[in-house]
Amino acid sequence: MAYVSALSPATRARHGRYYTPGVLAEQLWDSARHAMGWSRAPKALPGLVRDPAVGGGALLLPPLREHVAALGDLDPQLVINSVASVIEGIDTDPAAVWVANVVLASELLPLLARVPSHRRKPLPALVRTGDGLSAELARAAVILMNPPYGRVRLSHADRARFGPVVYGHANLYSMFMAAAVEKLDDKGVLGAIVPTSFMSGRYFEPLRRILTDHVTLAGATFVEDRSGVFTSVLQETCVVAFTRRKVRKVKIESLGSDCSYVATVGPPTTSNPWILPRRSDLAVAAAVAASLPQTLRGAGWRVRTGPLVWNRHKEDLHARPATGRYRVLWAADIKTGSIKYDKARNDKRYVALPETSVLIQRERCILVQRTSAPEQDSRIVAAPLTEADLAGGAVVIENHVNALVPEEASAVSDRVVLALLRSRAVDKVARCISGSVALSAYELESLPLPSDETLAKWASLDDNALDVAIAAVYAKIES
Ligand SMILES: C[S@@+](CC[C@H](N)C(=O)[O-])C[C@H]1O[C@@H](n2cnc3c(N)ncnc32)[C@H](O)[C@@H]1O
Repeated sequence: MAYVSALSPATRARHGRYYTPGVLAEQLWDSARHAMGWSRAPKALPGLVRDPAVGGGALLLPPLREHVAALGDLDPQLVINSVASVIEGIDTDPAAVWVANVVLASELLPLLARVPSHRRKPLPALVRTGDGLSAELARAAVILMNPPYGRVRLSHADRARFGPVVYGHANLYSMFMAAAVEKLDDKGVLGAIVPTSFMSGRYFEPLRRILTDHVTLAGATFVEDRSGVFTSVLQETCVVAFTRRKVRKVKIESLGSDCSYVATVGPPTTSNPWILPRRSDLAVAAAVAASLPQTLRGAGWRVRTGPLVWNRHKEDLHARPATGRYRVLWAADIKTGSIKYDKARNDKRYVALPETSVLIQRERCILVQRTSAPEQDSRIVAAPLTEADLAGGAVVIENHVNALVPEEASAVSDRVVLALLRSRAVDKVARCISGSVALSAYELESLPLPSDETLAKWASLDDNALDVAIAAVYAKIES
């Protein structure tokens, strides 16, 4: 920690040099142990445990300590010798490699002290300089990591290898996770500390496919860290463990000031956004949603992000209407159930655009605020953009708003979609899809819905009966 905090913020960011605090390293090892089906009693490591982006070695300390504790009674020199074949760290940063080697070797000093001085040999170097993504690495029983993240430009060779995991831009942490899956042995376990965005984001769909095809999620711990001690505030972080073995249950936990049990759910099996409860009161919603057959997209609704990025149009924004100016709809104008123009936005209420501009919205739709805080009473704030709101023919939707637009053939009416979006039960489902402040267009399109037959029946219900029917499906509340 002393080493890494001495680096300049720019260097740290460029190379992803953020080291894991002890509490999280312990949690990661606990999750990996659980995924291996281990009980509490300390065990010697069954095979190679690797951190391919090892930094100062924080993640390898708990398994190394357990290994040494489990073999405590054996000849100390034998135990020291065994360590080199079960612990391996790799990093591109030679200074980190030096630090990690000292840190890990220090753990062996009590053993070395028990070896008669004339028999003592130098302690093994468990960490080396190298590329943790290398295709040449041997298979491992356990891979632990808090990989670097950020967009990268891929070389030709890397594009060939990581093509299947890349959608749009390449993110280093997806590449590390995919490479780790490739390097696990038959019963191997991958434990990772990563942003939760991989569980639901569109760019991570290929990664979710690779994960669900080759390993099974055995545990997920959501890190409740509003203080930003563990990670940056905007990126919700989780500790996840995957195994090559067949498991049917995922243990969900929440780590705040201490670690608490949340729920046990079935493992995700598709590349669609994973629906996992962050709190125990969300467990029912998560279980129901994961079993539903339809999605908003499947039922014929598309979600588009408002196209107006206002600071690219500063000169075109006006307070007064005029010919060639269109009314702008801002996120602050969307109140639950209806549009109420926010006075604070009145100085930028109209935008001048050519009539043919693709930014102009001419059809009715449903508007949803794109960002809302997890603490907010209702995660989804939605309102219809009615024919009356379109008076004058058209509006322009700002970038912090998502617009849900029905395809012509959609059998699901605006009324049903609005009732779904304002229901508490669906709000809970949204909280299981995204833990971050933003609910993306892609995540909204993936909102799980009941079967087409149920949706067809809902069309004929009056508003009260519809609310009851929605609660019956999503919250299992009997009507
Ligand atoms: C987020 S830090 C985590 C360090 C350590 N595992 C921990 O949890 O404290 C990521 C580490 O990845 C290293 N790194 C970046 N690219 C790498 C690569 N291609 N191969 C190996 N290490 C890499 C960085 O130098 C940095 O030490």
